[in-house]
Amino acid sequence: MSAPTDAQRMEKIVSLCKRRGFIFQSSEIYGGLNGAWDYGALGVELKRNLKNYWWRVMVHERDDVVGMDGAILTHPEVLKASGHVEGFSDPMIDCRTCKAHLRADQLVEKKGVKQCPNCGGKDFTEARQFNLMFETHVGAAADESSIAYLRPETAQSIFVQFKNILEVSRKKLPFGIAQIGKAFRNEINPRNFTFRSREFEQMELEYFCRPEQGMELLEYWKEERLKFYDNVGISRTNLHVLNVPDAERAFYSKGTYDIEYDFPFGRQELEGVAYRTDYDLSQHQKASGKSLEYFDEETKERIIPHVVEPSAGVDRTVLAMICEAYAEDQAPSDKGQMESRIVLRLHPRMAPVKCAIFPLLKNKEPLVAKAKEIVALLRPDMTVFYDESGAIGRRYRRQDEIGTPFGVTIDFETLGEKDPALRDTVTLRDRDSMKQERVAIQDLPAMLRERIR
Ligand code: GAP
Repeated sequence: MSAPTDAQRMEKIVSLCKRRGFIFQSSEIYGGLNGAWDYGALGVELKRNLKNYWWRVMVHERDDVVGMDGAILTHPEVLKASGHVEGFSDPMIDCRTCKAHLRADQLVEKKGVKQCPNCGGKDFTEARQFNLMFETHVGAAADESSIAYLRPETAQSIFVQFKNILEVSRKKLPFGIAQIGKAFRNEINPRNFTFRSREFEQMELEYFCRPEQGMELLEYWKEERLKFYDNVGISRTNLHVLNVPDAERAFYSKGTYDIEYDFPFGRQELEGVAYRTDYDLSQHQKASGKSLEYFDEETKERIIPHVVEPSAGVDRTVLAMICEAYAEDQAPSDKGQMESRIVLRLHPRMAPVKCAIFPLLKNKEPLVAKAKEIVALLRPDMTVFYDESGAIGRRYRRQDEIGTPFGVTIDFETLGEKDPALRDTVTLRDRDSMKQERVAIQDLPAMLRERIR
């Protein structure tokens, strides 16, 4: 059988996500809302594991970072000062043949002629700027005075709260403020599954520093972020660092790296790490008339701190983890014949279910009782799934497909029926190697905790 193409691989991934309850089209029963996605029982666990791990390494394991959780509804003056009201737009054109609205840079070029990616048409309107922000109204009056925006990035609430957080946390430069939360962009063409959505989540750190530290910290954060991806199971060979050229960087940035991933639909941005200088704080200081300066006790200087920003997408990272993990290989059936299996080789730290518990037979009360005891033993430390239905091979396959790294089987040896020395031991199966080891039940919690932390 020939290897699947990248498009087929992506189709299989999207289908698995729906079939097993990772990701669904939002409002599906009404025809779907383009650019919005709902995460099901497994998707929400995967997403939470990712966010919790980000928070752990970016906030809890550091002395120099504190967290915040800002409002989504944003005062228009914030986004005027940041430049979003004026300039957060993409060039949009319409295809006169099929009437599609298209981002100007998404036309396909064939033999030097630009074509519509939907219908192949070649007749377009002039490009015009389309602002990507979602506008809404706060309160009863729906006029100019009540306009507010759904935030297009989490970063701005960090800049706007900089002074409050500095005063309360009493941090010294360099220090950072981290946030995870929803952001909204009215993308002209949402596409590639969750990759480009209209509602998505970001994990952003604004790391404030003295101006002379900016370039060095840009390198530091790029390396830290690459380590992070390694630690969530995204291999370095599929990641690429693009040093964004001067002409393509925001005018205020002195250096930006895009961390890109080889998705089945092409190499695309996962995260931006940008040295944004003092642009944001200066803009907000000017527009609000409130000082956003930092007083350096040692030098007795007042400065506007510079900032380095690693900004990652939750949904894109979840998608990259799934793409990275998706594999098809061969595994033995209950009769010992090799058959193909789908396996998600998710990092155990990220897997939605950590351990599946299987009594060998569902109609043997002592096996079932022991299995339920093990469920109760492990549950305080990890997500577990109890499954007693079907042949054991089928049960393994169901768990392989959702990335469960460990499977525990309770058999007659567990009951000490064959060899008293094996009483209260179980088999622990590893998803990737499919190897099984015999483990004492009492050792399971510590052993698994160590492998999933
Ligand atoms: N504060 C900087 C900022 O927002 P960005 O490059 O526009 O920078 C950062 O966004 C990250 O947010 C991206 O690298 C990506 O992971 C995620 N992101 C941006 N737009 C997105 C979209 N439409 N859908 C899903 N994720 C998106």
